[in-house]
This record gives sequence, structure tokens and C-alpha cells, in this order.
Amino acid sequence: MNERDAFPALRAYWHPVARSADLQDKPVAVSLLNERLALFRLPGGVTCLQDLCIHRGTPLSLGWMEGDRIVCAYHGWNYNSGGVCTRIPAISPDRPIPDKARVPAYQCEERYGLIWVCLDQPHAPIPECPEFDDRNYSHYLVGPVTWDCGAARSIENFVDQAHFPWVHEGILGDRANPETIPVKVQRCPEELRYSFVDRPNPMHPIPHRRVYRIYRPFAIHQRKERENGEVEASFFVVTPHSSKRSTNYLYVLRNFALSECELRERYELDVKIMLQDKIILENQRPEELPLDLSDELHIKGPDAVAVEYRRMLAELGVV
Ligand code: FES
Ligand SMILES: [Fe+2]
Repeated sequence: MNERDAFPALRAYWHPVARSADLQDKPVAVSLLNERLALFRLPGGVTCLQDLCIHRGTPLSLGWMEGDRIVCAYHGWNYNSGGVCTRIPAISPDRPIPDKARVPAYQCEERYGLIWVCLDQPHAPIPECPEFDDRNYSHYLVGPVTWDCGAARSIENFVDQAHFPWVHEGILGDRANPETIPVKVQRCPEELRYSFVDRPNPMHPIPHRRVYRIYRPFAIHQRKERENGEVEASFFVVTPHSSKRSTNYLYVLRNFALSECELRERYELDVKIMLQDKIILENQRPEELPLDLSDELHIKGPDAVAVEYRRMLAELGVV
């Protein structure tokens, strides 16, 4: 993906940038689409500003919160949640504050225990994970883990059935049974949808139907539905720090109970699967997903989802 061309389109989407729990009484520095951002928890809610004081280029994340103001660590300039400077301590309060004394402020929301930021007017809402607020479901989070690969490579990998027997043999797949199950992908304006009846695998021994929603640009909602009504859902979202660096968050949500021991085992397997993927993903070249379909070789059937996903991203004018 060409960084310069890709980023304007991606700025109009919501991206997760941190866990809510990690933003308390100290500012947090994050990076999104090559921008350095500072997050603050103010009485009115979470605030996201460009992490650069307009005075002398000091990161605002080195400063602190004081009431509803952000204080820069270098000369104590105060900013409000809109990024407007409201106090310059080195001058008398009678003197006006220059109009230019402000920094860009970005839209910011807390959802699913994560902080989401949009750097422009949102083109689509935050992706949906209805199970998160459903009391019948409990969940855990795997991650955040940061990898040296583009976010789209991670998303594509998550839904790539053909790699299960090779990268995750004995967990998600079986090399004696490597054929993928065909799917029919439905295109909606901002997402892809499909479902299929999966064959049982060591990690999911009970027969189930898998139902997928892939949200543009970097989110997946997946449900594994058993006939008896038990559901295991996954919500996988990825932060694009740059075209070559990204952070994964994976929520696993269930409406049925596992023993503490089973739960620990499953969590450890999820962590192991991620580490197995990391080795492949960090070594793929180019690090970013090639959106020109002629750049890599696609096989009809197994690569159907990947082809539709690349098309959906390419439509953003990012090629
Ligand atoms: S650099 Fe921030 S107040 Fe001077
Ligand atoms: Fe994988």
C-alpha cells in the first residue's frame, strides 16, 4: 500500500488505539497512520490531541491533566479538550492568547473496553460486536500485540482457512485434511459477509457454523454457532500504526461456561496461535498487502475471501 495515498482514506475510519484501562491519570502516547497522538482522560471524557505542543514541539503526552485542562511539561501552556490553548503562564492573564495557539483535536470514543480514534469525518461507524454488551457472554482479550506487518496482512490471515493445517496444525487444522470449504462472499457497502459449516478441529471439536463479518478496513467479527445454541464469538481489530507496523486486539466471547482450567488452556492456545501467525506475517514481503490483484497469485476457492477483501480496500483509492 502506498503510504502517502492510502492514509487519507484510512483517516476517515475509526481505529482502536489503546485499552481503556491503560488510560487513567497519566496521558498516553499512541501512533496511528503515522501520526503521533496523545490521549487524556478528562472530566468530559477521553480526549485525543496531536502529540505536539505548538509552542516548541514538545509531546503533550509528557505533560499532565489538571481539572479539565492539559498542561504541557515544558512551559506549562494549558490546552482544553478541543486543543485550544487557554493559558500561557509566562505572560500576564490580561494579554490575549494568539489564535494560532492550538493543536489538532480528533474524535475519540470508548467502546468494547478500547479507545477508538478517527482522524477525519467518519466514513463508517465503529465495527459491531453485539456480544460484548450481552450479559449472557463472558470474554477475555488476547493482546494487544504489536507486529512488524501491515494491518491488512493480519486481517487477511485471520480469515485464511488454507493456512490452518500448515501454521496451526493440531490446533486449528489437520494436514491430512487440508482442503478449504468453499464460501460465497456477500459484499455490503462497508463489509464482507459469509458463513460456512466448518469441520470440527482439535480446538473446536463440536460441529458449528462460522458466520463472518469483515469490516473495512481492519476489523473482523466471527461467530461459531453450535446447534445447541452455544456461541463462541471473536472480535479481531487491528491498529495501523504505519503501513508496516500494526497492533492486534482479539476478544473471545462465549455464552457458555468453561472451567477455569479449560479457560486458561484456551487462552494459552489463542496466544500460541498468534505467535505462530506472527512468524509468517512479519516475514511476508511486502509488509503491506498488495492491493493490485495481479501482484500475487490467487487460487479460485481458497483465496476468494482475500480477493474480495483486497477489492474492498482497493476501492478506497489506496492503490
Ligand atoms: S513547548 Fe509546550 S509550553 Fe512550551
Ligand atoms: Fe493463523
